[in-house]
Amino acid sequence: MDMPLVYGHRGAAVEAPENTLPSFKLAEKLGVYGVEMDLHTSKDGELIVIHDETLDRTTNGRGLVHSYNLKEIKKLDAGFKSGNKWVGTRVSTLREVFEGLGRINYYLEIKQSSKVYPGIEEKMLNLIDEFNLKSNVQVISFDFDSLEIVRKLDKKIKTGLLYIGKSSWFISIAKNLKINFLQPAFNLVYKEDIEIARKNGFKVAAWTVDTPEDIKRAIDLKVDSITSNNPRLVLRTLKKYAK
Ligand code: G3P
Ligand code: CA
Repeated sequence: MDMPLVYGHRGAAVEAPENTLPSFKLAEKLGVYGVEMDLHTSKDGELIVIHDETLDRTTNGRGLVHSYNLKEIKKLDAGFKSGNKWVGTRVSTLREVFEGLGRINYYLEIKQSSKVYPGIEEKMLNLIDEFNLKSNVQVISFDFDSLEIVRKLDKKIKTGLLYIGKSSWFISIAKNLKINFLQPAFNLVYKEDIEIARKNGFKVAAWTVDTPEDIKRAIDLKVDSITSNNPRLVLRTLKKYAK
């Protein structure tokens, strides 16, 4: 039986501070196929791996990521909110993540296009090339402008369109943007969404799938990949059904 590939959402976010190197390393140790992470840029234009546009929820900093230089962001603690064990965990740049993880697979989510973060797409693509990771990366975004820029800059890199809603609404957008994967919110994925994706030649990467019921539903729907905050549970459950 074909099982979905497993990506750790923000690493192994239920067990370690989201979007940090320890979280990605834990997901890798658990045996995921890949990891998902979110990108913003700092004031001095570095690619910063963090989910929110502000520092407040996940670090002891305050305000917009984009109003601080990397040196200032590096002083922050991105671990203490997840418990004592993680105190002192730092926010990482994408370069540090590539250095720390190497040849695993990546869903790299651009949170805002060059309109907000000038040059973010080109910087990311250059770094992917520098680490020779093009075949391991899928660039994903809710931001159509960003996906358009990525496709103009690189005809070959895999891209995925993030959305919440019926897949039929997004097929023509995905075609216009020359997307390879549909990346729908899983709670709104039904049989007809998979059918229309297949009919139009798209693979389906579903996020986020965190409960035994959803994992079973994702297997039955034959999605191509599952992105989960709890990769340990997903991998264990897939093993059970593969028997
Ligand atoms: O994997 C896609 C998913 O991460 C999109 O939502 O808000 O968790 O970045 P969000
Ligand atoms: Ca994300």
